[in-house]
Amino acid sequence: MERCFFFIFLFIHSALAQKHVEDPSQNQKWLTLNGDRPLVIARGGFSGVFPESSQFAYQFALSTSISDVVLFCDLQLTKDGNGICQTELRLDNSTTISAYYPEGEKTYNVNGKNISGWFAVDFTVEELFNNITLSQNVYSRASIFDETLPIMTVEDVTGLRPPKFWLNVEYDMFYVQHNLNAEAYIEEALKHMRIDYISSPEIGFLKNLNGKLNTDTTKLIFRFLEADAVEPTTKQKYGSILSNLPEIKTFASGILVPKEYIWPVNAQKYLEAHTNLVTDAHKQGLLVFACTFKNDGIGSYNYSYDPTAEYLQFVDNPDFSVDGVLTDFPPTASEAIGCLAHNNKTRPDKGKVLVITHNGASGVFAPCTDLAYQQAVDDGADIIDCSVQMTKDGIAFCSESPDLMAYTTAMTTFMSRTSSVPEIQQHSGIFSFDLTWSEIQSLKPDLRSPVPSVSLPRNPANKNKGKFLTLPEFLDFAKAKAVPGIMIDIENAPYLASKGFDIVDIVASALRNASFDKQETQVVMIQSDDSAVLSKFKDVPSYQKVFHIYEIISSVPKETVEEIKKFADIVNLPRSSSLVILNSFTVKYTDVVDTFQLSNISVFTSVFMNEFPTIAIDMFSDPIVELQTFVAGFGIDGVVTDYPATARAYSRSPCIDLNANVPYTIFPAQPGALLALASPDALPPVGAPAPSLTVGDVIDPPLPPVGDATADGVGSTGLALPSDQPTNNVNLSLCVAAIVALTLMFLGH
Ligand SMILES: *[C@@H]1O[C@H](CO)[C@@H](O)[C@H](O)[C@H]1NC(C)=O
Ligand SMILES: *[C@@H]1O[C@H](CO)[C@@H](O)[C@H](O)[C@H]1NC(C)=O
Ligand SMILES: *[C@@H]1O[C@H](CO)[C@@H](O)[C@H](O)[C@H]1NC(C)=O
Ligand SMILES: *[C@@H]1O[C@H](CO)[C@@H](O)[C@H](O)[C@H]1NC(C)=O
Ligand SMILES: *[C@@H]1O[C@H](CO)[C@@H](O)[C@H](O)[C@H]1NC(C)=O
Ligand SMILES: *[C@@H]1O[C@H](CO)[C@@H](O)[C@H](O)[C@H]1NC(C)=O
Ligand SMILES: *[C@@H]1O[C@H](CO)[C@@H](O)[C@H](O)[C@H]1NC(C)=O
Ligand SMILES: *[C@@H]1O[C@H](CO)[C@@H](O)[C@H](O)[C@H]1NC(C)=O
Repeated sequence: MERCFFFIFLFIHSALAQKHVEDPSQNQKWLTLNGDRPLVIARGGFSGVFPESSQFAYQFALSTSISDVVLFCDLQLTKDGNGICQTELRLDNSTTISAYYPEGEKTYNVNGKNISGWFAVDFTVEELFNNITLSQNVYSRASIFDETLPIMTVEDVTGLRPPKFWLNVEYDMFYVQHNLNAEAYIEEALKHMRIDYISSPEIGFLKNLNGKLNTDTTKLIFRFLEADAVEPTTKQKYGSILSNLPEIKTFASGILVPKEYIWPVNAQKYLEAHTNLVTDAHKQGLLVFACTFKNDGIGSYNYSYDPTAEYLQFVDNPDFSVDGVLTDFPPTASEAIGCLAHNNKTRPDKGKVLVITHNGASGVFAPCTDLAYQQAVDDGADIIDCSVQMTKDGIAFCSESPDLMAYTTAMTTFMSRTSSVPEIQQHSGIFSFDLTWSEIQSLKPDLRSPVPSVSLPRNPANKNKGKFLTLPEFLDFAKAKAVPGIMIDIENAPYLASKGFDIVDIVASALRNASFDKQETQVVMIQSDDSAVLSKFKDVPSYQKVFHIYEIISSVPKETVEEIKKFADIVNLPRSSSLVILNSFTVKYTDVVDTFQLSNISVFTSVFMNEFPTIAIDMFSDPIVELQTFVAGFGIDGVVTDYPATARAYSRSPCIDLNANVPYTIFPAQPGALLALASPDALPPVGAPAPSLTVGDVIDPPLPPVGDATADGVGSTGLALPSDQPTNNVNLSLCVAAIVALTLMFLGH
């Protein structure tokens, strides 16, 4: 019930939490036209998650965004002169209209092109309300809210009492041809609603409106389309109109431009130097708004798939700030502007959560290379990690896996050395212990995408850069850079023993040799999935022992925790052990983190990445919201990440503290809340729960003597039967009832 209440709180959060008085010391000088904080403008509401311009999209934009969020509505006019909010002129992509009016398809000439589809001009508002519902028109986005919500009129949206309202009139000339009049519609509407901004890509329309309304309260904004598109009034290309800013100032207060007009992206998807557009427009007294931002398609490698990095490029650079951003994901824009901008990068953070790398900054450079480790240091990681592997000639070096196929170009050179080692993995590989160190040094590291099913390559410019480090080189590097700590990961110890390598002794001596055993300035963590390995380090109490539990578990009984406590101080769990996720939606949280922490075992969670398909939709495909959910929501102690820069930006921000007096509070996702809003038919079936972690799972046999291992005690053994432990279930029915009640309240029905 407490969690349910929390969600309701989130829902009305714009009415309460985001409206508190701001601490004046937080006020920053922005390089916007008026020095004001840049605006977050929600295109069709929170259209990244919900069908665009639907009630859920607008309500969630209000409840999850910064307090002065602007709701953006694309105006379409109906046959009887009513205004509805829908982005496309044709309604067939985003509604079920074609099913209810199969004969309604028409072909019209729109700005010189014949276009076929279902047009609002052919239907009365009554007909559009009749049975027709909205659907997600970006097919890669969640469809579970489809066909449940009606079309909204402009009045429905302003009825939500948004802090600011923006009306975009994209097709005035088309409506005039159909004897409808957007200008008259607006003049009438302004008698009973406030419209803060009106934008249009048509100069004629804006010029007409200019004398007719109070431009102090309703600002006119000229919208630029792509540079090659032709402006219908002047027949000039938008690209050439750009050079005439003084002329634009005669009929508009500002401009709305595609973001590439400001930060161009080249064909290789790298960001080029910024243009002078914002500075030039500001000199003319014009506001500048940039569009369209989204989390599920970040256009340039320079942002490392971190959507907040893109906003910061526009609002927190030394030369200028845009006056607002038009986005499909208003919470992410809110956190970038309200929490991350203007943060002092040298200020030590609150230290609430440790940032631990996963093979160095492996999102940016190939895993375990010198460059990945240097990047991790530059990005402010607390702990850098080395997974130790052995070469045939006995050199210990850092690599995520003993199988070199996955992270190097070994396939092209050493295909003939492929072998099968079932003790390590099921598929065959090219193993480090079959190659000499000089052979391995001849390979190139390989930066690959962890999400091969979608096309999100990591920076191609860095693909084969960097070199591998031996363990002593890694330790020297950590010493020289004075990183706060290191984590050494040891896997496959029994198998390596059979190959004649005492990996525990090799690591222990290297640490001793680099005098990590007799110092207190740098933290040393030893990680393994093998309890026998961790037990071997008992005699160095200053080393923290991290038990790596790869299996996804849904619960852990007390006796297992007590057993783990005998050999580990920390556990490292997969994200899914804290949170049950189904088809990219969170279902519920587990009590695994709490159970460990109650016994004083710290919890790390791995692996965090920026790529949006790795992040649940409840976390808005936003890496910062995911971090906040695990850190502030579940209280984990460390995040293991491919992108330490993102985790550090988060941990440095004042918003990590839910009670901080800041312009915007990042709320943790509420597990199950979004699924509860979907129609039951849209829900996927819930699978069997993940198993519980038994004592037998965590006790490994003692390490075999070096040279004659039977090699069957590799890592953790399989898991026992699924648990019947009760899990902490959210009572969804109560939440649903509360949400429905609130929704009705909001709409005033
Ligand atoms: C429907 O949406 C898809 C994808 O967004 C787009 O390619 C297509 O042109 C749209 N069709 C219509 C009729 O608007
Ligand atoms: C559009 O359709 C009309 C009538 O079918 C035709 O006369 C006209 O040439 C078409 N225009 C274009 C640009 O294709
Ligand atoms: C549409 O809704 C009306 C009631 O508003 C109903 O009578 C009619 O059967 C519905 N049509 C379809 C095709 O569902
Ligand atoms: C983007 O990345 C490329 C390649 O690393 C670099 O050359 C360029 O300067 C970067 N652009 C900006 C604006 O930082
Ligand atoms: C940033 O923080 C550091 C350390 O607290 C401080 O010395 C420095 O003056 C701060 N810089 C700014 C611009 O506030
Ligand atoms: C021991 O440390 C020294 C100096 O730090 C280094 O040169 C040497 O390679 C190390 N030896 C081993 C076995 O790690
Ligand atoms: C956890 O640690 C605290 C402080 O170190 C101690 O007071 C408490 O008894 C410990 N709890 C358990 C379950 O070990
Ligand atoms: C949730 O609450 C409702 C109403 O109090 C109750 O009928 C239902 O059994 C509860 N469900 C669960 C799973 O606890």
